[in-house]
Amino acid sequence: MRKKLIAANWKMYKTPDETRAFFRDFFPLVVGHERDEIVVCPPYIDLAAALEAARGSNISIGAQNVHWKPEGAFTGEISANMLLSLGITHVIVGHSERRQYFGETDDTVNLRLKAALESGLIPICCVGEVLEEREAGLTDDVLRRQCVRAFHAISSKKAAKLVVAYEPVWAIGTGKTATPELAAEAHAVIRRAAAEIFGEPFASQLRILYGGSVKPENASALMAQEEIDGALVGGASLEAKSFAAIVKY
Ligand code: PGA
Repeated sequence: MRKKLIAANWKMYKTPDETRAFFRDFFPLVVGHERDEIVVCPPYIDLAAALEAARGSNISIGAQNVHWKPEGAFTGEISANMLLSLGITHVIVGHSERRQYFGETDDTVNLRLKAALESGLIPICCVGEVLEEREAGLTDDVLRRQCVRAFHAISSKKAAKLVVAYEPVWAIGTGKTATPELAAEAHAVIRRAAAEIFGEPFASQLRILYGGSVKPENASALMAQEEIDGALVGGASLEAKSFAAIVKY
């Protein structure tokens, strides 16, 4: 049995004060919830406030990106060691918005993934096709390619903590959700790719989250799919009540 992981991706939203306010409202709603793992990924400047607020609770805190070098002259970047020194446990890698707007490539995703895994962070590696690729029947090829390149030269032993998120780009922030069946099909493609790269036992343990307009109304149907091991939630994670409703799908 794979324990489900429900992660919030706050993107570029909330100040430290707003972060503290979120946790004040969110805690009572999920206190004692052990069925699923809960992770919240705020912007860098909110990480300290989030860690402070979540201390001793059932909620882990993650970052939204990580650089692959331990330190150096890389203005604006943050390393895995820096995140770990703060108490961060998870990190999102290769989100489609990074790929779309900030020049992220399959190769830089691979570098970030290696750095995260080597440091002991739990990476949530995002893959997903854009609308034109889906319409051209290329979804399976795109997902396979993204996985092969992202996991390049990583051993199954090193990859032990890896989590993957399937995020069809056409469903992110658009209100369009992949149907549970369609998402499950894509997850199966990712799991097959992982089996080829890391072996069958690894693939059967690998958690694959779904992301793209997950809301309280569609969470339970998505989570009912055996292939879907949790969710990466953007817009609907910004509000305590709606994220708690998703966690408790
Ligand atoms: P959304 O974002 O839930 O707002 O569609 C998901 C994501 O980008 O991780």
